[in-house]
Amino acid sequence: MLKTAVVGLRDIGNLHADCYRSSPHAEVVAVCDIIPERADAAAERLGVRKYYDLPTMLEKEDLDIVDVSTGGVERGSDHYAPTLTALEAGCNVLSEKPICNNIEHAREMVAKAAEAGVCFGVNLNYRFSPACRKAKQWIEEGRLGEINFVNKVQWIRSSGKTEWYHMRALHPHSMDIIRLLCGEVKQVHSYMKRREGNICWSNASINMLFESGAIGHLNGSYDMTRLHPMERTEIGGTEGRIVFENVFEDLWFYPHDSTEVTHVHNSIFSDLTCFNDTFRVRIHRFCEQVAEGATPDEIEGSGYDGLRAQEMIEAAIRSHQTGDVVEVPL
Ligand SMILES: NC(=O)c1ccc[n+]([C@@H]2O[C@H](COP(=O)([O-])OP(=O)(O)OC[C@H]3O[C@@H](n4cnc5c(N)ncnc54)[C@H](O)[C@@H]3O)[C@@H](O)[C@H]2O)c1
Repeated sequence: MLKTAVVGLRDIGNLHADCYRSSPHAEVVAVCDIIPERADAAAERLGVRKYYDLPTMLEKEDLDIVDVSTGGVERGSDHYAPTLTALEAGCNVLSEKPICNNIEHAREMVAKAAEAGVCFGVNLNYRFSPACRKAKQWIEEGRLGEINFVNKVQWIRSSGKTEWYHMRALHPHSMDIIRLLCGEVKQVHSYMKRREGNICWSNASINMLFESGAIGHLNGSYDMTRLHPMERTEIGGTEGRIVFENVFEDLWFYPHDSTEVTHVHNSIFSDLTCFNDTFRVRIHRFCEQVAEGATPDEIEGSGYDGLRAQEMIEAAIRSHQTGDVVEVPL
């Protein structure tokens, strides 16, 4: 069993801990939070050891996996220090998204994981939904033919405390799905809008050109609602079109040469009945890969994948600042 410790024990860290506990490959042995009451409460709930700083935990525990469920500025600044410390100690790390709100730090994290030769994953949980996996399988089987375009929306109701909060905290998911299914993006151009009096650019319209020559568009918003579908991905190819909606609910395939539409609907008896279940599916896969001895570059939803999504986001931000079409650095 992989000895696992969770760092950062608010809602998400506690959810992660439960996901590790239900994995057949992992056990939670310790928790760590710089706010003692949070570590105390989680340790008591889970029946594990507690620490108030990561270096002490790493000194006392022999860990296989360190889970970084901290937050910080734009929900990502506090991933940097614990991730580097755990990687330096030789632990496999699964960090929450965004990999980091600071792109230089994100690059450093990926470089450190490569240097340490350990597995580094980011919680890009949307890509682990059965609908997304099936969509990827259909694309790889050639059912869509050559990809022409992608249209993606990602909407939620939230407020952002900084200018780029919406972009950096929400769109790691969107960018990751777009890149996973359609390949590397070469250039982006964006327009953004914010509500009167709002500091955060809460609506974004981003055009993309892919290395393959395909074209794409992302519409993101923090000004929508949690009452209706929050996500839709539509990909058109030379042979057909796929649409999947609300992360894991429905997937359709529309072949160009037939009226027979394939619809895959998530059953209420399935493994995924609510959004939190996507965390379990993702975390179980990370544990499974580490337990099976996957090499760092075999990790699905890796630190590198998290970095690529963040590079796309930073390019979109630069485009909004300058008005230019911006190259996404490779
Ligand atoms: N993947 C998803 O779909 C999804 C959904 C929601 C949130 N998230 C992510 O989950 C993360 C955590 O969210 P949250 O709402 O629980 O965050 P939070 O900010 O409420 O809690 C973070 C906790 O980490 C602790 N912490 C910070 N730095 C620490 C350190 N160096 N050592 C030990 N503890 C430290 C804090 O004291 C706090 O208790 C965020 O990065 C967020 O973006 C992901």
